[in-house]
Amino acid sequence: EKGNYPHFMLKEIFEQPETIENAIRGRIDHEMGTAILNGMNLSPRELALINRIVIAGCGSSMHAGMLGEYYFEDIAGISTSVEQAAEFRYRNPIIEPNTLVIPISQSGETADTIAAVREATAKGAVVTALCNVVGSTIARESGRGVYLHAGPEISVASTKAFSSQVVVLLLFALLLGRNRRLSRSEGNELADQIEQIPELIRSVLLQAPEIKKIAERYADKEDFFYIGRGCLYPTALEGALKLKEISYIHAEGYHAAELKHGPISLLDERHPVLALANDIPGKDKIIGNIQECRARKAPVVAVITRGDSAVRSMTQDVIEVPPCSRFIAPLPTTVALQLFAYYVAVARGCEVDQPRNLAKSVTVE
Ligand code: M6R
Repeated sequence: EKGNYPHFMLKEIFEQPETIENAIRGRIDHEMGTAILNGMNLSPRELALINRIVIAGCGSSMHAGMLGEYYFEDIAGISTSVEQAAEFRYRNPIIEPNTLVIPISQSGETADTIAAVREATAKGAVVTALCNVVGSTIARESGRGVYLHAGPEISVASTKAFSSQVVVLLLFALLLGRNRRLSRSEGNELADQIEQIPELIRSVLLQAPEIKKIAERYADKEDFFYIGRGCLYPTALEGALKLKEISYIHAEGYHAAELKHGPISLLDERHPVLALANDIPGKDKIIGNIQECRARKAPVVAVITRGDSAVRSMTQDVIEVPPCSRFIAPLPTTVALQLFAYYVAVARGCEVDQPRNLAKSVTVE
């Protein structure tokens, strides 16, 4: 039921502090500074042997996987690649005995991701899935994995499942990192940061009225670029997907460095840019990108870290998120982008929960 919310999407956006608490509950061991993910069912020896990770998913689940790549490589030092699940099956992927395959799927019923699970299993990979729907095909066929505990996601646009996927990937990176190169105190530091995510998201949700005002000023645009760097690059892709899927505005997510390699030729007053300029490594470069956009008269909406004045002189349209590390920043930032997409779609009179041409789970190839 929608309760007091006009749409399931808004309800699900606002549920995120609780759904993330559910994803974390019982999964952090402060004594050892690590995560406990029993469903993975991997012995310490199996964990130690993993020397490569391949993540497969579609849409938002693939974007969560792209963040997983940053986490597994940077936190745990394990070489990781992400495959669009449909590609996985058809390009004869290299699966070695110590390759771990992680399919990610909210529904657990996406045809391409099921096919990837079957391909990986046939090639002898260790498969551990991240699913939300309990007992779904992917959860059953993978045999082991971690549930997201986000509760039913009704809106076609994925919100709370995405954020829980990212949190579970962080927990898994913490576990693998402690199994390898992280000290107990480093592990605990990351665990503390993960536990603060619900509070960070609450503080973004409090800004919904301001985000709504900015969204309404941009609701008549027909094109949008989203740019980010590092962990905020997959975040930009996810933000752009959310906007195009529910508002029917053409939106493209780009790595900010790619602007100069083509898309900048499009920029003018009709092509706004949503820049993720949080105060994390790479911020100076993003500020340079914002200046390049402004020089071409492109309107800029910037996500910044609260209290950071560096970007304020370049645009009045800023959305503030609370300070946090580069690994955590995608979460509050994504929530801000979900709200932005939602309010743009509402202002355009779109059918938010049931966008045209889309199904909640894509069960055909
Ligand atoms: O159920 P799944 O996570 O496997 O679904 C994958 C995609 O179809 C899904 O994330 C889709 O991109 C969403 N509508 C995005 O909001």
